[in-house]
Amino acid sequence: MAMDDQSRVFVRKLLIWYKKAARELPWRDTRNPYAILVSEFMLQQTQVSRVLEYFPRFMARFPTIDALARSRPKAVMEQWDGLGYYARARNLHALAKVVSRTLHGQLPDDPVQLQELPGVGKYTAGAVACFAYQKAVPAVDTNVRRVLSRVFGNAKFGMRNAELWRLASTLVPKNGERAWKFNQAMMELGALVCTARVPKCQDCPVKKHCRYTARLNSRNRIHGRAHPE
Ligand code: ADE
Repeated sequence: MAMDDQSRVFVRKLLIWYKKAARELPWRDTRNPYAILVSEFMLQQTQVSRVLEYFPRFMARFPTIDALARSRPKAVMEQWDGLGYYARARNLHALAKVVSRTLHGQLPDDPVQLQELPGVGKYTAGAVACFAYQKAVPAVDTNVRRVLSRVFGNAKFGMRNAELWRLASTLVPKNGERAWKFNQAMMELGALVCTARVPKCQDCPVKKHCRYTARLNSRNRIHGRAHPE
């Protein structure tokens, strides 16, 4: 599917917003595939503020994928203790062993190959391919799913997963550097503005392109309430 003008403007505004609004996070400062993988494993089901405590410690204790592969399960679990969802730690450890033994410690850059590794789903595969290797692929997590269905969806029908991924692949810029920014920006918008319960639509850089905001505004007009636009 080709991108229409609306979508192009959406992407442009999103990237401009990201430049000034993005948080500095340690995993945005690196292109080390292993570091990005660890951060993405931790960020599945855990808030950024907690991951910020665990990520630097984990990286200091297991600085490379080979170091992690060589470690005892007990040592890995100790570093994960308190983060919850311990299957993630077991999968990460199993993954490190596979990559260390069969791929010379090199994480693949292809999302399909990445998804063959333990604990790596479609989202994590996309995130590693894009954030580490600047592949122009989408990465649709819970935040991104919410942003896409609000901006592009309609009130009656929720968007199905396949549809969301298809939409995300039409939006993601072809240039790797911009694709990186786009995926980070979508997550950032979901985390900071397009939040789950009470979205901050007034502060949103893409409110003019958003069906959800349009619906809110027209509902408020009908009920004679003030509306942001
Ligand atoms: N959640 C998952 N991946 C993330 C990232 N790279 N930055 C912020 N939140 C995230």
